[in-house]
Amino acid sequence: MSTIGTSYLGLELRSPVIAGSSNFTSSVESIKEAEAAGAGAVVLKSLFEEQIVSQAATLSSGEAYPEADDYLSYYTRTNSVESYLTLIARARKTVSIPVIASINCFSEKGWTDFAVQVEKAGASAIEVNLFLMPVDMHQTGIQAEAAYFKIIDELRKKLTIPVSVKIGFRFSNLLNVAWQMHNHGAKGLVLFNRFYEPDIDINNLNIIPAPVLSNPAEKRYVLRWIGMVSALNIGMDISASTGVHTGEDAIKYLLAGATTVQVCSALYKRGFTVITEINEALRKWMNDKEFTRISDFRGKLNYRNIENPSLFERSQFMKHYSSYI
Ligand SMILES: Cc1cc2nc3c(=O)[nH]c(=O)nc-3n(C[C@H](O)[C@H](O)[C@H](O)COP(=O)(O)O)c2cc1C
Repeated sequence: MSTIGTSYLGLELRSPVIAGSSNFTSSVESIKEAEAAGAGAVVLKSLFEEQIVSQAATLSSGEAYPEADDYLSYYTRTNSVESYLTLIARARKTVSIPVIASINCFSEKGWTDFAVQVEKAGASAIEVNLFLMPVDMHQTGIQAEAAYFKIIDELRKKLTIPVSVKIGFRFSNLLNVAWQMHNHGAKGLVLFNRFYEPDIDINNLNIIPAPVLSNPAEKRYVLRWIGMVSALNIGMDISASTGVHTGEDAIKYLLAGATTVQVCSALYKRGFTVITEINEALRKWMNDKEFTRISDFRGKLNYRNIENPSLFERSQFMKHYSSYI
């Protein structure tokens, strides 16, 4: 009989399927639903640094910035730091699966103290939703990456719970960045966040949001990097995010070397039952293939373990696909 339990960031999970950070993980009620559906863990909706900074700025604004005061009252009402900490504490008391907090960060300083409060509130681990938008043409790639490492250093100095880092894929050498993040103390890497992207409405001549939810086809660029990062063999857990909609998607990511997979768009499209379905499909596939544990096959098809690693390196269509031209 196959077991789908696994270990992630040093935490014991009954399933590798995690309810990823979104509005589906922003209340105790929905976290209970995730647990009932069979999730191995939940990652809470991020608390955004921007919100925290706004709060601090507004507190000292006096009457000079009435709009900011409005924002503060809105923010305090809907999503304050206090309520985030309360959510962590209540969720930990209510469910038995690990509750991973998520902090978004857009600068190098000033907010990491907040992570200490998150730890005190009882979070099982912290996922740092880290994206520093490069907007300065004078900033080099090395300088941009150094800012990421500095944040991880700060967190590691202050926290005892494990830290994972959720990043985008736009780095000039992702393998080096992953290895360095590990050296700076990140226990896990979430590949990848799927950001808000702009689109253009040519009829009304304005900027509009591109589709917010993913589809399974978006796995293809993630698979390559999971297969490559997992092959570094540096003992860093990888959690796959983007494009997990079915059991087959989850199995592909595990074969490429992910330790866990996170679902988000699939929750918006089909609700928490998708987690139950993925667990069932995974169990059935493992039984059919006679794998008793996830470790029997995790990473079996990563860059290091496949016979022809050039399949991961290939990026140009060349001869192989010439029949399509
Ligand atoms: C509506 C929505 C809200 C999200 N909020 C967060 C968030 O607060 N923090 C975060 O790290 N990721 C957030 N994400 C990103 C998801 O956690 C996930 O990484 C991304 O959607 C890719 O996974 P998917 O293909 O399963 O959707 C959000 C995604 C959506 C669609």
